[in-house]
Amino acid sequence: MGKESLIFQGLLVLVTFVCITQTTKTVYDSSNFPQHNHKLIESNYTPRGEEYTLGNLTVYETPNRSSKRVLIHIYDIFGMSVNIRQVADSMAALHDFRVVIPRIFREEYWNEGNFPPANHSELDIWVEENASWEKVAKYDVLNIINWFQTRENITEFAIFGMCYGGIISTMAATEIPEIKAAGLVHPTYVTNEHAEGVKAPMYLLPTSTDADFLPFYEVLKTKFGDNCGHRRMTDMVHGFAGAGGDFSDPLTVQRVEEVIDILGVFFNKNLNNS
Ligand SMILES: *[C@@H]1O[C@H](CO)[C@@H](O)[C@H](O)[C@H]1NC(C)=O
Ligand SMILES: *[C@@H]1O[C@H](CO)[C@@H](O)[C@H](O)[C@H]1NC(C)=O
Ligand SMILES: *[C@@H]1O[C@H](CO)[C@@H](O)[C@H](O)[C@H]1NC(C)=O
Ligand SMILES: *[C@@H]1O[C@H](CO)[C@@H](O)[C@H](O)[C@H]1NC(C)=O
Ligand SMILES: *[C@@H]1O[C@H](CO)[C@@H](O)[C@H](O)[C@H]1NC(C)=O
Repeated sequence: MGKESLIFQGLLVLVTFVCITQTTKTVYDSSNFPQHNHKLIESNYTPRGEEYTLGNLTVYETPNRSSKRVLIHIYDIFGMSVNIRQVADSMAALHDFRVVIPRIFREEYWNEGNFPPANHSELDIWVEENASWEKVAKYDVLNIINWFQTRENITEFAIFGMCYGGIISTMAATEIPEIKAAGLVHPTYVTNEHAEGVKAPMYLLPTSTDADFLPFYEVLKTKFGDNCGHRRMTDMVHGFAGAGGDFSDPLTVQRVEEVIDILGVFFNKNLNNS
């Protein structure tokens, strides 16, 4: 009995050790990231969707709920901005999806008044503690999937995110089998090492000031062939499609529309529409 229990404990330790060494720890290190040099720019847009709560999570959802396909849209470090909801509304209307934006930061998000952050490690510590994949975001994504599966009988899910939303989308495409495709728009906290773990087709949309994602793309191609993509928006800078984007600038608007089209077509290819 005592011996068996010792063996059992030994096994547990071994399994735990293997699990820990097998898991890629996400490091929230923003020191190499492009600076957010502008303040939040609110467009004149009025979001058309509604917010509601799923257990301990509040989400925004786009207005038309007839689609059987859900895109989870992860916002950038500014939280639930008008721009983020505008992109979600356009994506939903143009490509026939339900788009859901979780309030992962629970309104405690890194304040726009703090941008650009004087001290990047303070931002990283905040993300690590209050918005990391491991501690917070993973459960929010699982909560959304479970909600739509059980209440709406929906099985088609994809995810896309900007900036901070890039790492969350990457981890979802790595750890959550229900996620069938992912899109990264000017992602942060994502490194080329993350590509190895990705299990769902992915489209990469960095800008001129983001890291080089071609090595990441090469790994994607070995897994998914043509069913993945990369386009560097060379005339745009980090943040253009998110809260910091100037949606009164015609070129920015054109590029944001291209992002919506590229991802809309990509998700359409990867999610069944029945
Ligand atoms: C929300 O609830 C889920 C399920 O009970 C839990 O795993 C998660 O940690 C909770 N998240 C927060 C931020 O309280
Ligand atoms: C909602 O979307 C469906 C397609 O999924 C479309 O047929 C319908 O016209 C839309 N409804 C409104 C009010 O836009
Ligand atoms: C930045 O913040 C971290 C964490 O609070 C602190 O350890 C570090 O000294 C700060 N650096 C500067 C230059 O203030
Ligand atoms: C995380 O959020 C809690 C609650 O809002 C706050 O008290 C705490 O200071 C935050 N952590 C960091 C590192 O900012
Ligand atoms: C859920 O969807 C499946 C597959 O489309 C279908 O067979 C089933 O009847 C649906 N269940 C409900 C409760 O709508």
